[in-house]
Amino acid sequence: MSIHIGAIRGEIAKTVLLPGDPLRAKYISDNFLEKSREVSNIRGIHFFTGKYKEKEVTIGASGMGIPSMGIYSYELYTEYEVDTIIRMGTCGSYRLEIGLQDLINVRLAASESTYARYAFGIEEESLSYQGDIYHKINTTAKSLGTEIRTLNVHTSDIFYRPDPEPVIAKKYACDVVEMETFGLFANAKYLKKNAASILSVTDILPTGEIMSAKDRERSLNQMITLSLESV
Ligand code: HPA
Repeated sequence: MSIHIGAIRGEIAKTVLLPGDPLRAKYISDNFLEKSREVSNIRGIHFFTGKYKEKEVTIGASGMGIPSMGIYSYELYTEYEVDTIIRMGTCGSYRLEIGLQDLINVRLAASESTYARYAFGIEEESLSYQGDIYHKINTTAKSLGTEIRTLNVHTSDIFYRPDPEPVIAKKYACDVVEMETFGLFANAKYLKKNAASILSVTDILPTGEIMSAKDRERSLNQMITLSLESV
């Protein structure tokens, strides 16, 4: 057990998929995994371990924001010897050209957050994906015929922000915004682990357009299949 995860050692697979929303873990477990069982349920964050085409995977949740992602991914890497974490999340788009349902494999996450600096002395304000899982996702997408963009993301601590395109987003050419990837990449960089982040666009900031519940489910299924086929 770790402080925030109730599984015992060996109950968590080497590869973990982390959606933001805890309810998605059960959905993925029920619909995509075989022989899946719940291995942790602390604070409503359920973890399930099962098999996808004979490969063992664990699905959990990161919760919202860098602090929450920071806790779960750090404990998974350090207490359960996890090698690879794939975030599956949603993001807002700063640009009209990036539309609802577009899928993104994050190349680099830029953030105003001090998390990496104060946790690990990492001074960079932009961090790239870690290890080769990013490339596996791109090649898997190609073989599945799934279109995926490779873009830079702004990982923000602020959801409600009046500035339509913050300075850091411009500085690092970030086309989309979310709230967790920088924390995951910082932990993986420090611990020399693999990390990738797949996002689907659920809102367009300049127009206020948001994705319907039905389309959310469709793009979630695409992200799940792509992540599971990549591991
Ligand atoms: N801002 C920040 N995080 C998000 C957004 C957004 O517009 N959409 C999905 N995650």
